This record gives sequence, structure tokens and C-alpha cells, in this order.
Amino acid sequence: MNDAIKPGPETLSQATGLPQLSVVVPTFNERDNVTVLYRRLEATLAGIPWEVVFVDDNSPDGTWEVVRGLARQDPRVRCIRRIGRRGLSGACIEGILASSAPYAAVIDADLQHDETQLPKMVGLLQSGEAELVVGSRYIEGGSADSFNKSRAGASQLATEVAKRVLKVEIADPMSGFFMIRRDKFEQLAPQLSTQGFKILLDIVATAQDKLRTIEVPFTFGSRQHGESKLDSMVALDFLGLVLAKLTHDVVSLRFLLFAMVGSIGLIVHLTTLFIALEFFNVPFPEAQAAGALVAMTSNFILNNFLTYRDQRLKGFAILRGLLLFYLVCSVGLFANVGVAFSVYDQEPIWWLAGAAGALMGVVWNYAMSGLFVWRK
Ligand code: GDD
Ligand code: MN
Repeated sequence: MNDAIKPGPETLSQATGLPQLSVVVPTFNERDNVTVLYRRLEATLAGIPWEVVFVDDNSPDGTWEVVRGLARQDPRVRCIRRIGRRGLSGACIEGILASSAPYAAVIDADLQHDETQLPKMVGLLQSGEAELVVGSRYIEGGSADSFNKSRAGASQLATEVAKRVLKVEIADPMSGFFMIRRDKFEQLAPQLSTQGFKILLDIVATAQDKLRTIEVPFTFGSRQHGESKLDSMVALDFLGLVLAKLTHDVVSLRFLLFAMVGSIGLIVHLTTLFIALEFFNVPFPEAQAAGALVAMTSNFILNNFLTYRDQRLKGFAILRGLLLFYLVCSVGLFANVGVAFSVYDQEPIWWLAGAAGALMGVVWNYAMSGLFVWRK
């Protein structure tokens, strides 16, 4: 076929019913919500060829089973079941990349977002007025009245931080409800973080002012079934994202958490050393070894719960991981001391040499842990 008469993606999808819009729905324990959402999508998107991609992180309540049931009845429904991985942002990215329509929307499964806005959002992208459309609670006509006081305060604080620190210009960067042009998303995707909750904030902060953006108001509803997965860890994720974007990805949240756990490890080490020496009269070399062992163990546990909680080791894998972690850290100690010695050799400043060694140790332990202990 000659290029001039080749139909563009939009005309082609209208003619063939190929999806014009991919709706991506991250799910974790949303068994009672997915069918309702599917029916609502079906009603509201009647005039637009669409598909829906559910991305489920192996929900214990069997959400993926329900989605599979839907997919068997309707080929527009697809289910990605991820095993051994957790995380809202990562699920959204994977869902968008697995879909193929020229426009992709992300919407929560729990019916708190307003799917009736989708046709309007598609219209704004199709007309070329926008490349990104954000469902916004904080513009005229939108609201988040269903939030309790503390959640409302946290949301406002995070929004302020995002605007001031990351120079994000939209009213509701913390929203999880948006639609974006596929080509624009694919360009940004390699820079997005799969960790955390705030995919939209990541998108707007990464694109800076390069995405023509329009906000449409919506009312954040209340949850009918199941419960929110937002916990206090989400605040940490948020800070990590802000930091990563500020430092142009030089400092990642994972590395920071790893380093923070390492500092806690130092305190654990010294405390153990002190207790062994003072209360149990253990000779220094043994006390020091005990300190190192206790600190490595507590570092491993903390990292497994915090730093790598999206890839947490469970069951038998914990023991294997712990032994590997001991090994990694022991080699890391050599790297630490080696670097400290050579720095001290050239410049006998104790704190500089000590800090360089410690930094080397952390970087080594971090890199090797990611390779061998919590590998994807
Ligand atoms: N696949 C996957 N993996 N999905 C997840 C995960 C996960 O680890 N955690 C949560 N989800 C899904 C939920 O099943 C739901 O469909 C959606 O992501 C939102 O999660 P909720 O637990 O309902 O979060 P929320 O209501 O507190 O937060 C929402 O509001 C925020 C605005 O304040 C989310 O939409 C946020 O993105 C939004 O920023
Ligand atoms: Mn919710």
C-alpha cells in the first residue's frame, strides 16, 4: 500500500474496531470491584473502541481469577498477573507498555475515580489540544470530600512539595487518574520509577513543561469494597521520588533506604559491641564479630522489609538471601578498608579516609545486594 493512502492509526482503529483507548487498571485485592468497573467502562465507552488491561500483583483475594473470567467472555479485557512483584507505579507502567492503543488511561479499580470523564479525556487528546489529561480534584468543579482530615492534609502537603520543589505546574500532581498519548509515554518510560505510588507526579516531573497538559475536574469518590493500600510507607516513596527527580536520578530511593539501613546498622553494631563488652565481658575480637553479625542480620531484615519490600524474600528464600547477604557484606568490608587505606596513604586525614571507605562499602553492598540477594 502506498503511504499516502495508508490509513492513520485513528482511522484504522475506527474502521476495524482496534482499540483507540487502552484503560489500564492496577489491582491489588479488588475482587469485588473489578466487575463493576468493567460494566461501567462498557457503558461509558460505548462510542469508542477500547480495551482494558488489569495489572494484578497476584492478589491473595484472587482478583486475577475474576478478571480472567471477564477476559474469557470479552476479548477487550486482558489480565496481567505479576508474581513476586508489588507496586502501583510499576504495575501502571507495565500495563501501558503491554497495551497498544494510541491513548492510554490509568484508573483505580476501586471506583474512587470517575470513569465517566474518559470520553471527554479522549476527546482532548484526539483534538490535539492536550498530550496529557489529568483527572483533577483540586480545580474548580473537582473535590476530594471523601478524604478524612489527616489524609486531606497529607495530600495537600505532598501537592505543595511537588509544586515548589519539583516545579510541577498542575493543580493535582498526586492524582492517580489520567490519560496520555502513547508515543509521549513511551518516550518518558525509561526514566520513570517503578517503585512507589506516584506515577503521574513522576510523568509530569520527568517531562517538565514538555507535555501539553489539561486538567479535568472530578470528584474523588469513597471506596465501596476492600481497603486502601496506602500506608505510612507511601510517604517514604514520595520523598524518594522527589529526591530522585531533584538529583536527576543520581540518588535513588532504594539507595537512600539502603544507606539509611546501613547507618542504623552502625548503631546496632556499636550497641551490641557495648553490651557484649560491658555486660557479658566478652573479649573484644569476639564482641566485635558479634556486633558485625547482629548488625548484618538486622540490616538484612530491614532491607527485606523496607528497601526491597516490593521484592520481599519469603519462606526458604530468606535463609538463602541472608547467607548471601553475609557474604556480600564481608567482601564489602574488604572494599571499605582497602579504599580507606589507599586514601589515607595519600592524604592522612582520618575522617576523609573513613568516609571514603564507608561510601565504598555502601555502594559495593548495594550493587551486589541488587545483583545477588534481591535480584529481580
Ligand atoms: N498492581 C497493583 N500493585 N495495584 C495496586 C498496588 C500494588 O502494589 N497497590 C495499590 N494498587 C491498586 C489498588 O488496587 C487500586 O486499584 C489502586 O491501585 C489505588 O490504590 P488504593 O489503595 O485504593 O489507593 P488510594 O485510594 O489510597 O490512593 C489513590 O488516591 C491517590 C490520591 O490521593 C490512588 O489513586 C493514588 O494513585 C492517588 O494518588
Ligand atoms: Mn482507592
